[in-house]
Amino acid sequence: MNPTTRPLPRRVQSIDSSPTVVFRELAQRRLSEGYEVFDLTIGEPDFDTPPHIVEAAYDALKAGFTHYVNSRGISELLDAIAAKLAQDNDLHYAPDKEILVTLGGKQAIFCAIMATVDQGDEVLVLDPAWVSYDPMVRLAGGIPVHVPLRPEDNFHITEAQLSAHLTSRTRMVILNSPNNPTGRVATREELEAVAAIAEKANLLVISDEIYEKLVYDDRQHISIATLPGMRDRTLVVNGFSKSYAMTGWRLGYVAGPVSLIGALLKVHQHSVTCTTSFIQKAAVAALKGPQDDMVHMVAEFKARRDLVVQGLNAIPGVKCSQIEGAFYAFPDVSAYGTGEEVGKILLRDGGVALVPGSAFGESCGNHLRLSFAASRETLERALGAMKAVLTGRK
Ligand SMILES: Cc1ncc(COP(=O)(O)O)c(C=O)c1O
Repeated sequence: MNPTTRPLPRRVQSIDSSPTVVFRELAQRRLSEGYEVFDLTIGEPDFDTPPHIVEAAYDALKAGFTHYVNSRGISELLDAIAAKLAQDNDLHYAPDKEILVTLGGKQAIFCAIMATVDQGDEVLVLDPAWVSYDPMVRLAGGIPVHVPLRPEDNFHITEAQLSAHLTSRTRMVILNSPNNPTGRVATREELEAVAAIAEKANLLVISDEIYEKLVYDDRQHISIATLPGMRDRTLVVNGFSKSYAMTGWRLGYVAGPVSLIGALLKVHQHSVTCTTSFIQKAAVAALKGPQDDMVHMVAEFKARRDLVVQGLNAIPGVKCSQIEGAFYAFPDVSAYGTGEEVGKILLRDGGVALVPGSAFGESCGNHLRLSFAASRETLERALGAMKAVLTGRK
């Protein structure tokens, strides 16, 4: 048999392409056909990387900092990350043993799962969930167990819901706050619920804190690793994509107990050797340099958040809860059909591209995800088009 026609390994057959990418491509195709499209599928800030960060990478390149570096990360960056975690999160890690610099938060999560999930291990994924957790668990040979959080409770996490999905094979729970796609920021009480389950069932926790800096009003991001007993069972994942508008640079990190980071380091070494050298110099500039651009970006996202929540709730039948963090709205559109049906109509008749809620879990079929990483003008026009299409004026 020709090797290209032989069935692919089961682990690859068990996963699909990223649904957010699929919808973005649909929007782009429509754009290339000459239609006006408001693309609100995108999960990346529409701001430029601050110039002092770009300069730092440029300087590193000019200085010939272009070779392999230490697999864990350059010491300057490991120190800067340790200082950031201590200052912002009250988390204390040894830079030379308990931190790993990765190619984006995504690779940090991938290494974490590959290094800790064994064949047949169950991993709790709290729905609505970011689209890559489930496939990563499958690629590692694990079994993703979806815990559907209730839209009627605004996706509140409770101990009872988690407890109902525990078995003797449960090994890990993945937590994401601020959350993509719901925009929820977990309260201390919710984190305590996860911590109680983790302790009861002896679970590891991956805490995906990539949207940490994007929180609104008086809400506060709390890392679950700061709760009593949690530091030793948690891998804290963060990165530069969302806070510093650095998506294309591919830069993230993970911090955790020394034995776990040692295991992740092996996966990292044998897959990518190290994170790109000169880009790590830019990350040092991001952490140590002026933070004004981030402050400006967060203020702009907050203004857009207000516009989006108000605009969505002004469409009869559409329900959108207050967005506490990140840059996504996750409205219930069931008055008009499933998220998928409504998404198709909005793209066809209004040129508005969103991602159906079903991409984030089976229980999210009534929803659509709207990214407000777009200008206020685009958002206003898109909301106007949505209202016109859904209320039959178009
Ligand atoms: C919840 C969540 N985690 C992790 C990531 C990965 O981000 P990156 O790999 O760009 O750091 C994303 C990106 O969209 C995300 O939404």
